[in-house]
Amino acid sequence: MTTFDELNEISIFPPSQSMKQSRQPTANVEVGAIKGAIREVGVEAAKFGSRLLDPGMNLTLRPMRYPLFFERYKDSIKNTWTVEEVDLHSDLSDLTKLTNAEHHLVSRLVAFFATGDNIVANNVVVSLYRHVNAPEARLFYSRQLFEEAVHIQFYLNLLDTYVTDETERAKAFTAVENIDSIAKKAKFMFRWMESVTDLEDLKDRESRKIFLLNLICFAACVEGLFFYGAFAYVYYLRSRGLLNGLATGTNWVFRDESMHMAFAFDVIDAIRNEEPDLFDRDLELKVTEMIQEAVECEYQFAIDMLDQGVTGMPLDQMREYLESVADRRLATLGIPPIYGSRNPFSFMELQDVQELSNFFERRVSAYQMGVTGTVGFDEEF
Ligand SMILES: [Fe+2]
Ligand SMILES: [Fe+2]
Repeated sequence: MTTFDELNEISIFPPSQSMKQSRQPTANVEVGAIKGAIREVGVEAAKFGSRLLDPGMNLTLRPMRYPLFFERYKDSIKNTWTVEEVDLHSDLSDLTKLTNAEHHLVSRLVAFFATGDNIVANNVVVSLYRHVNAPEARLFYSRQLFEEAVHIQFYLNLLDTYVTDETERAKAFTAVENIDSIAKKAKFMFRWMESVTDLEDLKDRESRKIFLLNLICFAACVEGLFFYGAFAYVYYLRSRGLLNGLATGTNWVFRDESMHMAFAFDVIDAIRNEEPDLFDRDLELKVTEMIQEAVECEYQFAIDMLDQGVTGMPLDQMREYLESVADRRLATLGIPPIYGSRNPFSFMELQDVQELSNFFERRVSAYQMGVTGTVGFDEEF
C-alpha cells in the first residue's frame, strides 16, 4: 500500500538514483481531486508572465495560475475536525498505569506539543503567506493556519487534562525555555524562521534562496521530522493499548500535517519549475546540512525522552527511525540519502487504517464532506 505521505512526495532537485523507485501513486490511493498535474505545477503558470515568488499581492483567481493549490485547499476542508470530538477520558486511567519512565516520556511529549504548532503557525504568517504570491496558495495557508489553531487547542486541552498541577502545567508551557532538549529544537526552528524576517520582498536570487531554505526547513525538518518523531512515541504507546484519546487526536493531526508537508513540496516544485537555477549545488548542500542538524536535535530529544529506559522503544531504534524519515525527506527533494537507514518500528506498520476509514465515513455521513478514494498507512509512513 502506498502511504499518503509517499503519494505526495515529489522530486524537487533533479532525481538521484536512490529516489527513482516507489514514488508512483498506486491505483488504490487517490486523495481528493489531486491528479497528475502535480508534476506540472508552475509550468502553466509561467504563461501568465509572473512567478510565484515575484513580490506582490496577486489577487487574480481567474484565470487560475495554480489549480493544484486550489485543489489542495478544497481537499483540506474535507479533513475538518474539532477538539471536542476527541475523548480523553480513558487516557486518565491509562496515565495511572504508566511506569515512571513512561510518565517522563509523556510529560516531555506534551511539553513539546504545547509549543511546536505555535511556531509553525507563526512561520505561516511571517514567511509563507507573505511571500508565496498566489491567491490560491494563500487560501491554503489560511486553512493551514486554522488547522494549526485546532492543533494548538487540542494540545492545550491535552495538557489541561493530563497535567492537573498548575505549577507543572506552567512549566510545560515554558518548555522552550526550560527543558534543554525542547529548547534546542525551538532554537533551530526560530533560527530558520528569523532568517526571513529581514526580507522585505524576494526581489533577488539570494533572497529567494533564503526563503526556499525556510520553506524546506518547515516542511522537511519541522512538520516532516520533528512532528513525525513525536507521532512515533504516540503510536508506540498506542501499540501498548495506552492513551487512545491522544492517539485519536494525533491521527487527525497527522493527516493535517501530511497535507501541510505535501503542499509545501508542491510549492517547492512550482518554484523549481519556474526558477530551476535556484536549486543549485549550494542550496543542496545547505539543505543536507540543515536536515542533518534537525536529526541531531530530534535525537537529543529522543535521548531525553527515553533515557530512563522505555521497554519496546530502544534509543538506537529511535535513531534509525529518525534517520529513515530524514532520508525520505531528502529523496523527496531529489537529494541522495545520508543515512541509508530503515524504519525499525513494527508498530508503525499497523497504522490506523481502521481509525482513518472510520473518520472519513463519519465525516461523509455527518457533514457531507465526501472524500474520494482511500488513504492508507504502511511501514513507509
Ligand atoms: Fe500542526
Ligand atoms: Fe502543520
